[in-house]
Amino acid sequence: MKQTVGFTFALGALVALNGSPGATAQALPKTMKAIVAHEYGGPDVLKYEDVPLPEPKENEILVRVIASGVNPADPLILNGKYAKEFGTHLPLVLGYDMAGVVVRAGAKVTKLRVGDPVYAYLLWGGGWAEYCISNEGESAIKPKSLGFIDASAVPLAALTAWQALIDIGKIENGQTVLIHGGSGGVGSFAIQIAKAHGARVIATASTANQDVLKQLGAEVAIDYTKQKFEEIAHDVDLVLDPVGRDTLARSYGVVKKGGIVVTIVSRCDQAELKKHEIRGASLSSHPDSGELGEITKLIDGGKIKPIVTEVLPLTDAAKADAQAETHHTRGKIVLKIADEPKT
Ligand SMILES: NC(=O)c1ccc[n+]([C@@H]2O[C@H](COP(=O)([O-])OP(=O)(O)OC[C@H]3O[C@@H](n4cnc5c(N)ncnc54)[C@H](OP(=O)(O)O)[C@@H]3O)[C@@H](O)[C@H]2O)c1
Repeated sequence: MKQTVGFTFALGALVALNGSPGATAQALPKTMKAIVAHEYGGPDVLKYEDVPLPEPKENEILVRVIASGVNPADPLILNGKYAKEFGTHLPLVLGYDMAGVVVRAGAKVTKLRVGDPVYAYLLWGGGWAEYCISNEGESAIKPKSLGFIDASAVPLAALTAWQALIDIGKIENGQTVLIHGGSGGVGSFAIQIAKAHGARVIATASTANQDVLKQLGAEVAIDYTKQKFEEIAHDVDLVLDPVGRDTLARSYGVVKKGGIVVTIVSRCDQAELKKHEIRGASLSSHPDSGELGEITKLIDGGKIKPIVTEVLPLTDAAKADAQAETHHTRGKIVLKIADEPKT
């Protein structure tokens, strides 16, 4: 049974390294830097501010954030259109991916310890800050083979790809999958997860990203700006759609009878599913530390690696948010918040 001993002093909290006899205590500040939105809107509403250090509840951990991955979810949630649906409220700290080190653990935390290097898909965000709250349902031990910057690019996008292909699609060795947007955050993990499960991969991206599709292991790379994917892909077992609109509408016809279309941006057209005798699903992904642990094994086994194309300081969060909104990111953008600790 692990315990965290915390003492509050006038200058801040002093935290003993959990379970490490004789380990050096670590002083925590009372405030931290964070990117805060006090109103919904575009990147210009994001402010770099001092805020109080969050206090973990008994089933939560406090993490010193080293890096936080950027996702299209950040600008989507910031614009406030889905505030009711997502249960968000102001003031808001974005950042749904993080990698960092546990600095406090609540009394009911049983698996993670102070000092653990972790990474997580944060259901309630908060990663664009020097410290964030997480829990054991979200956080898993960071892959040993990745630094914190690369690790922070993994959780949300890789879990979305995993839940689409494995939980819903139940892909099997030898099946063929069509992955749209294969050079993006979700698509780049989806290609690698599908390959690791023995599937044959057809993937789409624009001209500039054809090389990425091939490097990730796609047998067939389609340039959607020059070729219609439905002229090349036929009788696939599964389509993963992170694009929507016309791309989704044209996808039903390439799936074999009994196959499935999984969209992460829209809803399937029931009449089209019926017409082609196929199945359809809309995925809203969720944190899952058990599945993140499975992804860790694939990363440390050399089967999956994130593509980080840009690393920005926390003060450039508005720039990162604006880039994520374009939906043409190659791999992932990461905000670096602190120097990599030695672990
Ligand atoms: N439902 C969920 O739980 C969930 C979870 C994660 C993400 N999402 C959503 O899924 C979408 C993708 O997320 P992401 O993180 O992968 O975004 P991303 O990193 O911006 O990647 C999007 C990719 O789509 C490609 N693309 C754009 N238009 C395309 C088209 N017509 N055909 C084929 N590829 C196209 C882009 O490649 P080019 O630049 O080469 O065009 C880019 O690589 C976003 O809308 C996001 O909000 C939903």
